[in-house]
Formats: sequence, structure tokens, C-alpha cells
Amino acid sequence: MREDSNEFLVTPWEVRGKVDYARLVAEFGLTPLNQELYKRLTELAGGTHKLLRRRIFFAHRDLDWILDKYEQGEKFYLYTGRGPSGHTHLGHMVPWFLTKWLQDRFDVKLYFQMTDDEKFLFKPELTLEKTRRYALDNALDVIALGFNQDKTRIFLDTDYIGVLYKIALGCAKKITFSTVRATFGFTESSNIGQIFFTSIQAAPAFIESFISEKNVPCLIPLAVDQDPHFRVARDIAPKLGFYKPAIFHSKFLPSLSGAGKMSSSEAMSAIFTTDSPDAVRKKIWNAFTGGRPTIAEQKEKGGNPSICPVFYYYAFIFEEDDGALEERRLRCMSGDLLCGECKEELIGRIVEFLEEHQHKRERARDLLDKFLLKDEETF
Ligand code: TRP
Repeated sequence: MREDSNEFLVTPWEVRGKVDYARLVAEFGLTPLNQELYKRLTELAGGTHKLLRRRIFFAHRDLDWILDKYEQGEKFYLYTGRGPSGHTHLGHMVPWFLTKWLQDRFDVKLYFQMTDDEKFLFKPELTLEKTRRYALDNALDVIALGFNQDKTRIFLDTDYIGVLYKIALGCAKKITFSTVRATFGFTESSNIGQIFFTSIQAAPAFIESFISEKNVPCLIPLAVDQDPHFRVARDIAPKLGFYKPAIFHSKFLPSLSGAGKMSSSEAMSAIFTTDSPDAVRKKIWNAFTGGRPTIAEQKEKGGNPSICPVFYYYAFIFEEDDGALEERRLRCMSGDLLCGECKEELIGRIVEFLEEHQHKRERARDLLDKFLLKDEETF
């Protein structure tokens, strides 16, 4: 959000520095996921998930209300999305993993937005042909995660604008330039597509209510940088007669080069879903760690998992077992576990995951048509 001596910045289009999540909670006005709500969620879901237990999904807006409604028999739907500016990396998939779990546990619909328009407007070097191509490519990663075929639809904004535009217009009419300037930092030289864009990202938060002509609760799992869009959307919802969407915020998978979230622009800082085993090996071996400069020093003083991307890869994705994760943390801190061993094991787990994912990704090509929403289709 803003940058100061502690140097971090979180906006929907840029994340820099080491993110202080406690400060984000305060500045964005989020509610931390507390033990009581965690328990209620997992009881209603009939199980737990490591991203919840470890508070990688750490904050929310109105998640308690979504559960109230659910208990009263008003089922919610899920909405999330992806800005297709390149290939998918593991960091992008973190919110999708929980979204899939929520869909399975609560048996609900999911709308998945591909903002090909957004990336065209915000990235000077990208053409619409490119962002559309990335969107279709990224959709394979979404499908590969196994979302329910009957309850999930993916759409490219430029394909689905016939439905979105009607909702976005209603939003746009209630959002002033002054609001988006303050929220997103636009200036006189921002292009006018950028200024309008938040109404397109808001639209799916109201789509079920709009189509069915009765209010349907919406829950949006996202990485916390996307929150500003939905602050605006929540502000205008009552003026449009819609429920405010509820939001569930995740932390960022750290960059392999240390500090900040994983960026798709720096190839070495992230593992892409299309990476070869050799690429994975090279990237993990090059990764920053919380280790000491020499083995002798590490054996004596131990490493620091709290600043180590390799450790976070285990915590976010590659270690299901809480006991094993804790043991890894303690062994690192005591100097018993060295970075080489820890990296080697991670490479094995990533390669195994990607092998299966890439296989599912290829099979997903045949399912694309079934998942994609076009023209005036509804589901
Ligand atoms: N703007 C998001 C991005 O750049 C994509 C997106 C669209 C999204 N709608 C969303 C993300 C809803 C989370 C929730 O990645």
C-alpha cells in the first residue's frame, strides 16, 4: 500500500519488499482469521486444510457472515481470478488450492475470471492477442487442479463482456474518479481503461445476484494485493441493492530470490507450472535461503527458516504434515538440517508435483470448451 522505512508496497499491480502482514491488516482494515472463526469454518467444512491451519489464509472480510448465511440455508458461490500476463507459477496457485477445497467441502459454484483486458491495459508491452493466449494457457492450470466440471466456469473478460458489461456499468456509475485515484493511485496520465477497469473486476462479485434476480452471497478467495478492488466493490454494493462480497485473503508465496512475493517477470524467482525438472533443480539450487555463509557456521548457529523461501515452499505447498514441518523448522534452527539436504528434498517434491500437474494440464485441453463461458451463456 505505501512505502516507508520498512520498505514494502502492496497494490493490485505491484508487490515489493518484505510484506508486513500485521501492518496490512491495520492499513487495509482487514479482520484476522481468529481461532474461533477457524474452528467454525473447519467444523462446517467437515475438515481442515494446511493453508488454514498455518494461517496462510490469514484475514477476511465478512467470512463469519458467509457462514451465518450458509447455516441459514443461503448457499454462497465462489469467485476468483487471474491476470494473464504470463505463464502460471506456483504462487498464483496458492489461492486456487484453497478455492478448490472450499468448492469441494461446501459443494458450491465457482466463477473464475481471466482479466485479459486488465493485463492489456496495464502492461505496455502486452497485446490483446498475447493476454488472450496466456488466459487460455493459464485456464489449463486451473482445470488441472480438478475443479468440479459442473460447478466451475472460467471466462475471459473479452469473451464474456456481453454479460459483464451490464453489471460493470451499474458499478461504474457509482464509482467516482476521486475514489479510484485514492484507492489505486491513478494520475492524470493513467489511461482511461485503467480507470474503468475495477468495475469489470467487481462485476463477477454480483453476477449470481444479477442473473438470478435475488441476492446470493459471494466469497472471494484471493491474494491480499487484490483487496483494494473489493473494498470499492463492497462500498457500492448496497447502493446497487447487492450483498457485499466476502473476502478471504492469502499471503504471498515468497520469491526464491528472497523478500516480496513471487513475480512472474523474473524467471529465476519462481517455479512455473511448465518448468522442466532441470529448470526446477537450477532455480532451487540458486534460491536464497535462511542459511549461514558456511556449513561450519550453520552447524554451530543454525539457520533461519522464517526468512527462507525454501522453508515457505514446504509450508505453503509441499509439506502436508504439521509435525514434519515443525521438525524441519527445528532441525534447521539447530543446525542439524543443512540447506543442501533441504533443497534436494524440495526439488524432488516439486518435480513429482509438476510431472503430474503437466500431465493433467495436457488432458485439460480437451476440457477447455466445457469450462469456458462465452457470449451470453450463463450456468
Ligand atoms: N486482477 C487479478 C490479477 O491480476 C485477477 C482477478 C480478477 C482476480 N478477478 C479476481 C483475483 C478475483 C482474485 C479475485 O491477478
